[in-house]
Amino acid sequence: MIRAEKLRHVYKSSSGDKVALDGLNFSIAAGEFVAIIGTNGSGKSTLAKHFNALLLPTDGKIFIDGLDTSQEENLWRVRENVGMVFQNPDSEIVAAIVEDDVAFGLENLGIAPEKIRERVDLALDAVNMTDYKNFAPNKLSGGQKQRIAIAGVIAMRTKIIVFDEPTAMLDPQGRREILEMVKRLHAQGKTIIYITHFMEEAAQAQRVFLMEGGKIIRDDTPREIFTDVKEMKRLGFNAPVAAELAERLRRKKFKLPPKILTAEELAEALLKNG
Ligand SMILES: Nc1ncnc2c1ncn2[C@@H]1O[C@H](COP(=O)(O)OP(=O)(O)OP(=O)(O)O)[C@@H](O)[C@H]1O
Ligand SMILES: [Mg+2]
Repeated sequence: MIRAEKLRHVYKSSSGDKVALDGLNFSIAAGEFVAIIGTNGSGKSTLAKHFNALLLPTDGKIFIDGLDTSQEENLWRVRENVGMVFQNPDSEIVAAIVEDDVAFGLENLGIAPEKIRERVDLALDAVNMTDYKNFAPNKLSGGQKQRIAIAGVIAMRTKIIVFDEPTAMLDPQGRREILEMVKRLHAQGKTIIYITHFMEEAAQAQRVFLMEGGKIIRDDTPREIFTDVKEMKRLGFNAPVAAELAERLRRKKFKLPPKILTAEELAEALLKNG
């Protein structure tokens, strides 16, 4: 369980203060899959870094499994509970060999070497990278590097995983693979927080936070958010293709039910139009 109470973050600099999070209140249940979307600079990454106490609140609080991140003595347990996967896979790689990279986080936890090996093997298998375990990470593609980063988090066995635009630098195939992995982790019971600029990806979550100017301006299901074609336009986002197409067809006097989100739903509605 995650709970934020009037969570505020201000970056202080010589050129003035920047309010990046402006009093957020929300809670996320264990096992939920929440996507976070929002324009550039709306505060998504700043929020991401509060989930594992990489940043601490300027004001207000965030609790991770009941642990207040602003209490020094909680930091270690918070970080043990929350895995992070960032945008740039190169900046996440720390070792010269894939399996050492996946093991890195575990070595700091004081786990016995044979247990580490077992967990690393399982994690590499989970991301389909077993064949690459003795490779140099810099020989891998961007998508493969991201899978290694995810394996590192899987090996840590954290309950919560935060992804900050993990697919931003990948091709469509790489993006699909990462999203499949995210969905699998969710199905296994992990709490997933998934930041993305791709609306089709966010549409796969159970719940979407829409951020603007350091605030969560909408907290709703993907269906409610993405079928609000006007709001998507205002923000300069592409609504998922089926939602957009349904809206265009309605303008051409097709009688379609409201809030169509997926291609399957659109196809079905069109067939009924005869
Ligand atoms: N280290 C920093 N020092 C000062 N200001 C910062 C710092 N990091 C971010 N900001 C500012 O805080 C605001 C929120 O930034 P943040 O990176 O959280 O946004 P974001 O939603 O992740 O954006 P993007 O979509 O570009 O990744 C922006 O105005 C940004 O310029
Ligand atoms: Mg960001």
